Amino acid sequence: MNPGQRSSWWSQVELGPPDPILGITEAFKRDSNPKKINLGAGAYRDDNGKPYVLSCVKKASDIIKSENMDKEYAGIAGIPDFTSAAAELAFDADNDIQRNGLNATVQSISGTGALTIGAAFLRKFFPYNKTVYLPSPTWGNHVPLFKFAGLETKHYRYYDQKTCGFDAEGALADLKMMPERSIVLLHACAHNPTGVDPKPEQWHEISQVVKERKLFPFFDMAYQGFASGDINKDAYAVRYFIKDNHQMAVAQSFAKNMGLYGERCGAFSMVCESAEEAKIVESQLKIVIRPMYSNPPINGARIAYLILKRPELRKEWLVEVKGMADRIISMRDRLKTNLEKEGSSHDWSHITNQIGMFCYTGLAAEQCERLKKEFSVYLTKDGRISIAGVTSQNVEYLAHAIHQVSK
Ligand SMILES: Cc1ncc(COP(=O)(O)O)c(C=O)c1O
Repeated sequence: MNPGQRSSWWSQVELGPPDPILGITEAFKRDSNPKKINLGAGAYRDDNGKPYVLSCVKKASDIIKSENMDKEYAGIAGIPDFTSAAAELAFDADNDIQRNGLNATVQSISGTGALTIGAAFLRKFFPYNKTVYLPSPTWGNHVPLFKFAGLETKHYRYYDQKTCGFDAEGALADLKMMPERSIVLLHACAHNPTGVDPKPEQWHEISQVVKERKLFPFFDMAYQGFASGDINKDAYAVRYFIKDNHQMAVAQSFAKNMGLYGERCGAFSMVCESAEEAKIVESQLKIVIRPMYSNPPINGARIAYLILKRPELRKEWLVEVKGMADRIISMRDRLKTNLEKEGSSHDWSHITNQIGMFCYTGLAAEQCERLKKEFSVYLTKDGRISIAGVTSQNVEYLAHAIHQVSK
């Protein structure tokens, strides 16, 4: 074949598989069953199953509109007021990190972009073992994202199938076995896909082992506030590690906690040894970002900044983020209660013990398939359900369907 001729350039390229989650949504859309439920997608829905735009977001958008703001480029590192407010959300108001200038914080294309910036920086500059240890299981995009950046990925034990809870013993044992000076990725709260988080005492132990093994902690904080409804409680692990004197990386997303999914608003922070080092790191973060996308989008960052900084909007946001978390928590409760009402003899306490958007039900792949075929209930075949898709109207039907395939 002549590679210079039309249609011959990509003949060696094979058809790629569809994205597993988006594939579920497509199949859901095609289903004509009026009782169908989509538990695949990880985006919040209100109790009518509809996307939810927070009232504080609408108000912030109105302010932006009324101020007739320009559309000039942000700097490579984003909008400084936003990055400072984002770091303050992660590290707490009046924290020593920002007071001493120890953080290099840049705006990112949501949480995925924050992880990507961090991964690219580590690939370029991490002076030791360029392997990222990820929990098993982890968010489906972690492995491709870190591999794409040129880092190696390995796993540590995290989820205990027997208890549907955190495998503390396994995780600590694996952390202790990691080669010194490796990178370890930690989900700050609302672990995706399991909904299983370490307890505060377990975070203390993890911090101790991370220190002993001289591991570099990289926190993925995609759900601050969305897990428990309390932005401070959800930042416990990150802030404890800071108190425990770790230098570390933090990826933040405003997709879930402000419902800014499509605005692609996030931040990446590197917590450094000194203010001089933070300046140097920031200069290199900009060099990493520049060829990727030049500079980040401005609208979501303007919205998030106004919400974080205007007292009346912040107050409203804190109520709204708690409202979202509480709806999820109450749906967990009702799903468990309805399973018991159905007469299920299984122990479903993990549904209410787990936290955040996702629940790892413990259902096997065949049971998930039956849920889809017989009940039009759509979920990933690892048994993960997005509680955001559960509503007052469908929770009884869902419990009935789960009981039918699991009894
Ligand atoms: C654990 C985790 N990290 C990062 C992200 C990134 O999300 P986004 O890029 O939409 O902020 C997600 C989204 O589902 C997630 O669950």
